[in-house]
Amino acid sequence: MPERNPVFLVIGAGAGIGGHAAIRFAAGGYHAVLARRSDEASLGRLIDRIEEEGGSASGTLLNAAEDGSIEELVERIERDVGPIEAALYNLGAQIGNRKLYDTPHKTFELGWRLGCYGVYRLAHAVFPAMVERGKGCLLVTSATSAMRGNAGQHSHAAAMGGRRMLCQTLNAEFGPQGIHVAHFVIDGAVDAPDTLGKLLGDKFDAFKAAKGEEGVIDPAQIAETYWHVAQQPRNCWTHELDIRPWTDVAWWNDNPNPEIDGRGKSFAGPK
Ligand SMILES: NC(=O)c1ccc[n+]([C@@H]2O[C@H](COP(=O)([O-])OP(=O)(O)OC[C@H]3O[C@@H](n4cnc5c(N)ncnc54)[C@H](OP(=O)(O)O)[C@@H]3O)[C@@H](O)[C@H]2O)c1
Repeated sequence: MPERNPVFLVIGAGAGIGGHAAIRFAAGGYHAVLARRSDEASLGRLIDRIEEEGGSASGTLLNAAEDGSIEELVERIERDVGPIEAALYNLGAQIGNRKLYDTPHKTFELGWRLGCYGVYRLAHAVFPAMVERGKGCLLVTSATSAMRGNAGQHSHAAAMGGRRMLCQTLNAEFGPQGIHVAHFVIDGAVDAPDTLGKLLGDKFDAFKAAKGEEGVIDPAQIAETYWHVAQQPRNCWTHELDIRPWTDVAWWNDNPNPEIDGRGKSFAGPK
């Protein structure tokens, strides 16, 4: 049987972090499998780009919130495409800022399904084969909300905080079995037209301009960081890191002092 390329699976492959991670891992020799909920044309454009650059990729539409969706995809890839050596869970809770009484039970549950339960389901599906092979990597894109609650974040922060604890717990059990889990706190706005871009609509360009030069995170650079972490030797694994633009205030610093830190004004934007 011919040797099959190792697979990099992305759950949530839009034009931002997910798509750029697929491009980077494909450039590094993986076959990238891209999954997103809608927009077959955009999915096709990403796959075309990877192939034009000499890489290998395929894709599918899937709603990760539905039970069985991630599990069936993983089974299909392991059977028909190749061994999943690295996977990226790239979905946030995505329900926006809402007051408690604007957060019905179903909405709270959806945030948890996308923000926390989906990570559990992906780990549950990919880890058995990884353990058997003695190696594998699960990357989880996270957000400031994984580190602190805030007004309007009842479902979002609860789900994202839960995923952070889940990543630590997965590491405790599966690290010694050769599986590397890394949780990335994206602590700032990303140049991501399919998520932040759609949220801000025609204000997206003005928002980026207001953030200033290099004030919005370049998803290609996040992908470069993911690639580095996924290639780390086992004696030097990163389990968590945070990323923000140089102009931004860190999640742990809600008392910035622009006069002292030299920015002259606060650049803090929505996170
Ligand atoms: N963008 C930011 O400013 C920002 C800031 C901090 C943290 N983050 C984190 O970054 C991650 C997202 O990365 P990104 O913003 O750069 O986005 P992206 O990779 O450009 O796109 C993410 C993709 O996820 C897909 N998706 C949404 N719901 C889905 C579902 N139920 N099933 C399958 N796919 C689904 C969307 O597909 P469709 O378009 O087809 O629905 C979207 O294109 C999240 O973990 C988020 O918490 C982002």
